[in-house]
Amino acid sequence: MTDVVVVGSGFFGLTVAERLAEQHGANVLLIDRRAHIGGNAYSAPEPETGIEVHQYGTHLFHTSNERVWEYVNRFTAFTGYVHKVYTTHRGEVFPMPINLGTINQFFRSAYGPEEAKAAIREQAAELGGKEPSNLDEQGVNLIGRPLYEAFIRNYTAKQWQTDPTELPASVISRLPVRYTYDNRYFNDTYEGLPVDGYTAWLERMADHKRIEVRLDTDFFDASQDASKAAVVGQVPVVYTGPVDRYFDFTEGDLSWRTIDFEQEVLNVGDFQGTPVMNYADLDVPYTRILEFRHLHPERDWYPKDRTVVVKEYSRFAERGDEPYYPVNTPADRDRLGRYRDLMTGEKDVFFGGRLGTYQYLDMHMAIGSALSMVDNKLEPIFGGKAA
Ligand code: FDA
Repeated sequence: MTDVVVVGSGFFGLTVAERLAEQHGANVLLIDRRAHIGGNAYSAPEPETGIEVHQYGTHLFHTSNERVWEYVNRFTAFTGYVHKVYTTHRGEVFPMPINLGTINQFFRSAYGPEEAKAAIREQAAELGGKEPSNLDEQGVNLIGRPLYEAFIRNYTAKQWQTDPTELPASVISRLPVRYTYDNRYFNDTYEGLPVDGYTAWLERMADHKRIEVRLDTDFFDASQDASKAAVVGQVPVVYTGPVDRYFDFTEGDLSWRTIDFEQEVLNVGDFQGTPVMNYADLDVPYTRILEFRHLHPERDWYPKDRTVVVKEYSRFAERGDEPYYPVNTPADRDRLGRYRDLMTGEKDVFFGGRLGTYQYLDMHMAIGSALSMVDNKLEPIFGGKAA
């Protein structure tokens, strides 16, 4: 007997399913329309080389949330991987995010922190107090024209396929500049990669006698016995698919950006010496190149003569594309408001996750918000069951 249907086996759905099964003794039916569990965190070994490739873009785990860190460590150990990113601009490689190393290399200077701050402050004063009216002006206002034009302007134009003068200033509220040589990408307390890969971690979460996983099962396929038509109103449903799809797009499509991945196996042991190289200039059509072997330097079984690289091309998503990053225009926010009104009318349907709430969530945020949903909304329904 099914006590709850969870739609979507990404980190949000898996966390809810695991907690309801383990902590609340519920029988969970977890469905996903894809042929694998794990949502966008899924990874698999590239068949020729055995190198683990994150199928939906690089996934680096990081968190400062103690509860989430304790929870995820029940299912996997983490390597000591620390993420760093570099960017190529006009044939030269610079460390990211912008830090004292980037600044001194770019200006051919030897500024200390205070001198660098003063130089950037002076460059950022160009608008003379005028309110930035678009992303271009906002960028200049935040870090000054030279650094903005070198590292942010064209990279952002490629990400959005739109000239930054036509993008709203609100797209970037801050551009972090570090006045030290620290180029660690994340500031979180904990960081690392699952020792034996994402899929092993994801599978351990689903491996519970009270969780039944059904893949290749679309919630909107009325021929399935776990479809929307069959289950809503019968058992509680946790829905982590796209919110506009749930309501048949009645309030309009929410807009997303997507990424096209171009994967190649190269006959070299090391292509770029680092996991992520951004390309800041417009003459390179992709935004970055990922080289997956560098995420796991400890895996000495990876081949020494071949490597896997993936080029990323960013564009607006159309229906049928994988939705990755919410665009979040004012029209989107209006539509989302109307969808939220509709959600309140859906008794015993709980919307969560990246797609179900139309917001970008890092993995630790998806897991943290799933734990909160279990505490605040599902515990009152399932709390009475024996564990
Ligand atoms: P997720 O999208 O993972 O899962 C939703 C699931 O619902 C999918 O499996 C989908 O198939 C299923 N589904 C949808 N509709 C359905 C239907 N009708 N029927 C059945 N199933 C349906 N985070 C981080 O911490 N570090 C990082 O480095 C990155 N990197 C990164 C790169 C890129 C390119 C993206 C897009 C995202 C990241 N993330 C990330 C974010 C990370 O992917 C995110 O936190 C999780 O995907 C959130 O998990 P969810 O369960 O919310 O969604």
